[in-house]
Amino acid sequence: MAKKLTQEEVLAALGQVNYPGYQSDIVTLGIVEEAAPGADGGWTITLRNPSDREEIPRAIGSRIHQALTHDLGAAKVELRVRPVAPELGEKTGRKRLDGIRHIVAVASGKGGVGKSTVAANLAVALGRLGYKIGLLDADIYGPSAPMMFGTGAERPRAVDGKHFYPVERHGVKLISIGFFIDDESPVIWRGPMVMGAVRQFLQDTLWGTLDFLVVDLPPGTGDAQLTLAQEVALDGAVIVTTPQEVAVADALRAARMFRQVHCPLLGVVENMSGYVCPDCGELDEIFGAGGGDKLAAAEGIEVLARAPIVEALRAAGDGGAPLTIARPEHPASAVFMELARRVAAAMPAD
Ligand SMILES: Nc1ncnc2c1ncn2[C@@H]1O[C@H](COP(=O)(O)OP(=O)(O)OP(=O)(O)O)[C@@H](O)[C@H]1O
Ligand SMILES: [Mg+2]
Repeated sequence: MAKKLTQEEVLAALGQVNYPGYQSDIVTLGIVEEAAPGADGGWTITLRNPSDREEIPRAIGSRIHQALTHDLGAAKVELRVRPVAPELGEKTGRKRLDGIRHIVAVASGKGGVGKSTVAANLAVALGRLGYKIGLLDADIYGPSAPMMFGTGAERPRAVDGKHFYPVERHGVKLISIGFFIDDESPVIWRGPMVMGAVRQFLQDTLWGTLDFLVVDLPPGTGDAQLTLAQEVALDGAVIVTTPQEVAVADALRAARMFRQVHCPLLGVVENMSGYVCPDCGELDEIFGAGGGDKLAAAEGIEVLARAPIVEALRAAGDGGAPLTIARPEHPASAVFMELARRVAAAMPAD
């Protein structure tokens, strides 16, 4: 006769089942929605399926059968799969900007995880692939493009009292609130002002023709993100996280916001994923491990790149030229070139 199992036993067994291709299990990742006992000693397991690939729930299902019936001795197991992701790439009524083929947002839930570093290096990497690139630094609170690109005293050139030309550096056309305020003045923005500034940057900048406009968003899910998502047809968002647990929880919220506004999630960039000791070559996982995988699995998306902690990346950012253009031979530059290739490959044909 089949053993009567407790819910704890069942959940513990499910906790041994890893999501295909990942180090984390399906309980930790929130894939198991419910484990309910039936009258006949069987169990019904409900899974949230965030993936649009059919083989994922199939693979998870056979591992669950193995764990519960074979290993634990459950009488029978019924699986239910509930798809959770809305259609990726769903088109909305939002407008495209004249002359701009693709708009890609770089976002995160938590501050300081390296969004601006990723956005700047992605921009120059796409430029190195031969695309025409603009970078919109939409971080009203902490603009960083002027410093990262070393634009010095240069300012956008205004024409006709309304429109302006972006500043061009390292092959990238740049617009940032940093060009319009001086370093000393603290900027205290209220919601409507933030929305107004982002809208103005989008509409009044004379970008010319661009293959990609990369948008560096402030952290979180506030007014700038919403304005951007409401105003323009975003081709996708790249979510940046560190491997840390707290960053992942916040990044998940950011990812879900993009889903809600029907912006396709292109994937995850795990930044600061370990430090390779320059002397001994050993990997030190300063910010923990697995955050990128966890976020990717929970949202059914991929980890597009993992950028390690490297002093050169910080130094290049502070020094006025992103690493990918300042030191193209550096291994971290190769990470961003690969990211650029993957982002470009994910764009819809136009
Ligand atoms: N992989 C890395 N290795 C070393 N330093 C890094 C790395 N990524 C980012 N940094 C440094 O960490 C700091 C924060 O990075 P960055 O400004 O890109 O983060 P952010 O997410 O844009 O922050 P904010 O939320 O303030 O906008 C910067 O000094 C940057 O040079
Ligand atoms: Mg930033």
